[in-house]
Amino acid sequence: MAKTLIAFFSRADENYFGGAMRYVKVGNTEIVVNQMKELIDADTFKIEMANPYSPVYMTCIDEAKKDLRDDARPELTNYLDSIDEYDTIVLAYPNYWGTFPMAVATFLERYDFDGKTILPLCTNEGSGMGSSERDVKKHAKGADVVKGLAITGSQSGSAGAAVKKWFAANGLI
Ligand SMILES: Cc1cc2nc3c(=O)[nH]c(=O)nc-3n(C[C@H](O)[C@H](O)[C@H](O)COP(=O)(O)O)c2cc1C
Repeated sequence: MAKTLIAFFSRADENYFGGAMRYVKVGNTEIVVNQMKELIDADTFKIEMANPYSPVYMTCIDEAKKDLRDDARPELTNYLDSIDEYDTIVLAYPNYWGTFPMAVATFLERYDFDGKTILPLCTNEGSGMGSSERDVKKHAKGADVVKGLAITGSQSGSAGAAVKKWFAANGLI
C-alpha cells in the first residue's frame, strides 16, 4: 500500500521569538511535525546535517547565508536507502533567507520523485513560503508539488487546525 513520508529539517537551540532570543529543545518545525503525526499515519525522517549549524543564533544566521550563497549541499548524518514505498512526501522546513536550508536540497537531489506528490510546509517569521515551493520543484525531479502551507514559527504549537485543513484539502485525511 502506498505510504506517506514526513521528511523535515528543524533546528533546536537558540532562536528568535518575537523580539527575544531563547534556547529551545525542540525546533518550531519539529513541533509542527509532532502535530502531523497525531493526524496521519506516516513514517518520519529528520534531515540532519553532519556538521550542524551553530547553536548560537547569530552564528547560525551567517553559516546558513554562506551555504545559500555558495549553493552548498551539506552532508547529512544519514539517508533513506530509497523513497520507493512512498507516494506522498510531506516536506517541512524553516524559511532560511527566503528559501529552505540547503540541507533540504541535499535530501531532494538524492531521490527520484517521479510520480510522487510533495506537500511543502514552511515555518517562518514573516517571509511565508518565500521561494521555497519553486525551489522544491527545481530540486525534486519529477515531483508534483502542491500549494504549500506557511506557519509562523513562534506559533507552531497551535498549527494543528491549519495542518489538518491542508491535509484534508490534499486528500491525506
Ligand atoms: C539561519 C536562519 C535564517 C532565517 N531566515 C528567515 C527568513 O528569511 N525569513 C523568515 O521569515 N524567517 C527566517 N528565519 C526564522 C525561521 O524561519 C523560523 O524561526 C523557523 O520557525 C525556525 O524553524 P526551526 O525552529 O524548526 O528550525 C530564519 C532563521 C534562521 C535560523
